[in-house]
This record gives sequence, C-alpha cells and structure tokens, in this order.
Amino acid sequence: MSTAAAVDILEKPALGAVERLLANAGLPTTDLTSAHLETFFGVGSPEALDAVVGVELHGDSALLRSLVVAPLTRSRGLGRALVSAAERCARSAGASDVYLLTSTAEPFFESLGYARTDRSSAPQAIRRTYEFASLCPASATFMHKRLVPTGT
Ligand SMILES: CC(C)(COP(=O)(O)OP(=O)(O)OC[C@H]1O[C@@H](n2cnc3c(N)ncnc32)[C@H](O)[C@@H]1OP(=O)(O)O)[C@@H](O)C(=O)NCCC(=O)NCCS
Repeated sequence: MSTAAAVDILEKPALGAVERLLANAGLPTTDLTSAHLETFFGVGSPEALDAVVGVELHGDSALLRSLVVAPLTRSRGLGRALVSAAERCARSAGASDVYLLTSTAEPFFESLGYARTDRSSAPQAIRRTYEFASLCPASATFMHKRLVPTGT
C-alpha cells in the first residue's frame, strides 16, 4: 500500500542520472536532451535518482513520459507523487489535457484518472512528438486525462 507521505521533488534533474534510471528500466532515452530536463522531476539524490518523470508541453496538451521508480523504492507513493508533479507543471503551463503511452502500467495510470483512448484521437501536437511517432511500440496503450482546473 502506498503512503501519502510528503515527497521531496527535485526539479530539472541531471541528464546522466535520468538516463541511467531510464536505461535500467528498459525505457527509451535516445531523444533526451538537456532541454527536456527543464520539465523533468526526480526523487532521490541528484547523482543517483530513485525516480523520475518528464512532461512535454505542447500548448493545450502535455505528454507525460519517462516515468520510472527504481525497484527498491516502489510502492511508497513516489510514482503517484511524480505524476502529480507532472500534472501541476502541465496545468501551470496552461495545458488542459495530459496524454501518455505505456506498455507496462495501464492499471497504475487508470487509478490516477487516466483512461485508455484511441491513438487516432491524439491532437496533432502529441502525434508529432518523437515518443508518439517513433519511440513507443504501436502496441503501447495510449491514455488521456482531462486536467481539472484549480482555484476556480
Ligand atoms: C509504474 C511505477 C512508476 C509505479 O511507481 P510506484 O512508486 O511503485 O507507485 P506508487 O507507490 O505511487 O503506487 C501507487 C499505486 O499503484 C500501484 N501500482 C504500481 N505499479 C503498478 C502497475 N504497474 N500496475 C498496476 N498497479 C500498480 C501500487 O500498488 C499502488 O497501489 P496501492 O496504493 O493500492 O498500493 C513503477 O512500478 C515503475 O517504475 N514501473 C516500471 C516503469 C514503468 O512501467 N513506467 C511507466 C511507463 S510510462
């Protein structure tokens, strides 16, 4: 059972540490640049991250990507906390919809309000992302969540 304990979120983690964590989990890193890291978040020490997530901002739409929690630190709420951080980032940048592709964690994302949707419904900006167009296998599940505005 995950806890709701406060999690210290690092902003803009270092590229090398992000690449190591993703590669260990078998997730793609080939398109990652320092520019992506502006909207990446991590947990752990800057040199040895326990967890990471990224968000790509494309106007009204955002792509949540590169979520991984190191095996020894799973089921402590880090995954959930990082998805919340990515959503806060997307919302504060003006995005209303978050999309993602996953081959391994559909039930996890469903529990956080994401729903499976057809790839043909993807906005152009999301289709053009490298992750959507090239990196993720065609068999990956495409999911969407409408962000609820805060403070209204
Ligand atoms: C999916 C992942 C990020 C979840 O991270 P985590 O830190 O363990 O997640 P949390 O502790 O916040 O878990 C939240 C809940 O989701 C559940 N959960 C975690 N991974 C799950 C999965 N793959 N499928 C279904 N449920 C899952 C947990 O059991 C927990 O439920 P609980 O609160 O009832 O116990 C992690 O398992 C992981 O890194 N997996 C490998 C990489 C991956 O699949 N990334 C997603 C690609 S986009």
